[in-house]
Amino acid sequence: RHQWQGVIEEYREFLDIAPETRAVTLGEGGTPLIHAAHLSELVGAEVHVKYEGMNPTGSFKDRGMTMAISKAVQYGAKAVICASTGNTSASAAAYAAKAGLTSAVLVPAGKIAMGKMSQAVAHNAVLLEVDGNFDDCLTLCRKLSESYPIHLVNSVNPDRIEGQKTASFEVVDALGGAPDVHVLPVGNAGNITAYWKGYTEYRDAGLAGSTPAMWGFQAAGAAPIVLGHPVDEPETIATAIRIGNPASWDQAVAARDESGGLIDSVTDEEILEAHRLLSSTEGIFVEPGSAASIAGLLKKSRAGEVPAGARIVCTVTGHGLKDPQWALHTTDGSAVETTKVPVDAVSAARALGLEDA
Ligand code: F0G
Repeated sequence: RHQWQGVIEEYREFLDIAPETRAVTLGEGGTPLIHAAHLSELVGAEVHVKYEGMNPTGSFKDRGMTMAISKAVQYGAKAVICASTGNTSASAAAYAAKAGLTSAVLVPAGKIAMGKMSQAVAHNAVLLEVDGNFDDCLTLCRKLSESYPIHLVNSVNPDRIEGQKTASFEVVDALGGAPDVHVLPVGNAGNITAYWKGYTEYRDAGLAGSTPAMWGFQAAGAAPIVLGHPVDEPETIATAIRIGNPASWDQAVAARDESGGLIDSVTDEEILEAHRLLSSTEGIFVEPGSAASIAGLLKKSRAGEVPAGARIVCTVTGHGLKDPQWALHTTDGSAVETTKVPVDAVSAARALGLEDA
C-alpha cells in the first residue's frame, strides 16, 4: 500500500524545484474527488467535488506552502511573512513551524474566522491584526519583504502557484482526463491561475487531451474582476474571499479567456444556500468562501447555462470547521434551534417523532 508523499514528491518531475531541495511536507494533496450525486441530478451534469478542506491545515493553501517553504529554506531564509484572510496564515505558520522558520502574518483585524486565527497562534506565528482589509495587509507585506530580510509567501510568490497547480494534476489523474468545466471561488486569484497552469501543462505533456473551461466566482460584495475595477471596501460573510484588488487579476482574466470560461459573482445568500446544500445532501462541510463555487454552479444552472451531461469539477477550498458558526444559523441569520430532553427514553422518542407527543 502506498503512503501519499505530499505534492512535491508525488509530482516532482512537473515542478520547478531543484532535485536536491528537500520537501518540507505535512502530507498535503491527495485530497478526495467526490462524486456529488445530488448536485449532479440538480444541475443535469456529472458533478465532482474536489474537497481541499482535507489538506493538513484544512485548506488548499498547503499545496503552495509546501513549495514556498521548501524553497525558502533552500534560499536560506530565516523568516517568512504573508498577508491573509486566514487560510494562508494558518498554512504558512504550520509549514514554517515544521521547517524551524519564524513566521509573521498580517490579517485584517476582526475579519478572519476563529479557527484560522487559532491555527496561526498555535503554530507560533507572530500575528499582526491590521486596521485595514486584506489588500492593505498585502501592500504592507510587500513593502516589508522588500525592505527587510523576510521572505514573502503570498501567492505573488511563483513558488506558491507552482505547488497549487498540482490540484489539476490530481483531478486529471482521478478522472482519466480533464473535466469539461472547472468551477472555483476567486479571491486574490492565485488559485484559478494555478489550476489553469496545471491543466495546460498536463495537456502539453500529453497527459490530458483537453483543458476545462474555468469558471470563477467572486462574492458579490467583493467582485472587482466582475465589476472591472478594484473595490475599496469589499464586504462579504465569506471572509476568505473578502478581497477588493486581487494580486493575480490579469492571470485570472487570462485563465478565463484562454479556457473559454467566465468569472461571475454570487451573493452571500446564494453562498449560504450552497453551503447548506453541500453539507446536508452531499455530506461535505466547507467554509462559506468555498461554497462560492457550488453557488456559482447553481446560479448557472438556474440560468440554463450548464451544458447537459458535462463533466464538472467544483473545488471547495477550505474545511467547514474553519468557520463553523454558519451551520448554526439559518440563511435568514437566526440561530438554529436545538432540542433539549431529559434522560428519558419516552421524551427522546417523542422528540424524534418516534412516539406521538
Ligand atoms: N477559498 C478559501 C477558503 C480561501 O481561503 C481563499 C483565499 C480562496 C478561496 C480564494 O483563493 O485567493 O487564490 O483566489 N484565501 C487567501 C488567504 C486570500 O489569505 O487565506 P485565491
